Amino acid sequence: MSTASRLFDVSGRVCVVTGGASGIGLACAEALAENGAKITLMDINAHSLDDAVSSLTRRGFDVRGELVDVSDRASVANAFQNTVTHYGRLDVVFANAGIDSGPGFLGREGQRLMEGSLENLDLSNWERVMAINLNGVLYCLQESARHMKPQGSGKIVVTTSIASCLNAAWVGTSYFPAKAGASHLMRQAALELARYNIQVNAIAPGAFATNIADGHVNDPAMRRLLEAGNPQHRVAEPAEIKGVALLLASAASSYITGTEIVIDGGGLLGQAD
Ligand SMILES: NC(=O)c1ccc[n+]([C@@H]2O[C@H](COP(=O)([O-])OP(=O)(O)OC[C@H]3O[C@@H](n4cnc5c(N)ncnc54)[C@H](O)[C@@H]3O)[C@@H](O)[C@H]2O)c1
Repeated sequence: MSTASRLFDVSGRVCVVTGGASGIGLACAEALAENGAKITLMDINAHSLDDAVSSLTRRGFDVRGELVDVSDRASVANAFQNTVTHYGRLDVVFANAGIDSGPGFLGREGQRLMEGSLENLDLSNWERVMAINLNGVLYCLQESARHMKPQGSGKIVVTTSIASCLNAAWVGTSYFPAKAGASHLMRQAALELARYNIQVNAIAPGAFATNIADGHVNDPAMRRLLEAGNPQHRVAEPAEIKGVALLLASAASSYITGTEIVIDGGGLLGQAD
């Protein structure tokens, strides 16, 4: 085995990926499966979960699915327990499932949107975004800790967003505190779990071409907005997450914990031209 293969080795690792049936989660799962890991995809969408499990299984990978709503604590606990019962341990967890928050206070053409304004913020939207993007991460961290602490090892990776450190007018307000909360929660968990040899980190993506927000990236006006604001003038393909996923899932990151790795083509740096 070459040095790089040994350093980033995840073969035989038992991995969970929430929101694993699509987009960034599916790409993380592929990166792990292609390198010999055993994967449990957890997702709320039964149809895309079946499709993802079938297509990865057809490629000869060890992949199973659990229908889970990450905002339902019992559902998460049950799916983690099933995974540990099936494989006997739990090595890597990607707490990735998340949703968009609808329109912000500016539309794609720069017009002011009443429905996205602060005073009109819909509390059911706020509660749903918090329940999935923040509470869902908490439940995954709790179940990870429950199973990893007795082992004395584990890797946890939370998908946050550049929205944890940057605001944007055209994204619904609820998204920002949910992602900033997930980011800070990740660091607190990293602090607590360090002595158990469990590393907890986050990936903070910029714009990726996934199905989030009903695949809004395919809307030409949205695409223009995203491309114009990025120094590389493009959005990322999901596969571009694979390198950092392998880094944070493997021994290559053995002394990295409590870190949020931004993967945004330089978007946080500001406008280039
Ligand atoms: N795509 C981007 O530009 C971008 C940017 C920053 C952060 N993110 C974050 O990346 C993560 C993955 O999003 P994506 O872009 O791949 O979107 P996606 O919609 O392609 O995939 C998200 C998956 O999560 C699942 N899911 C949604 N709610 C769930 C729930 N309650 N329980 C379990 N599964 C659930 C969906 O069914 C879907 O399969 C999210 O946390 C998102 O906030 C995405």
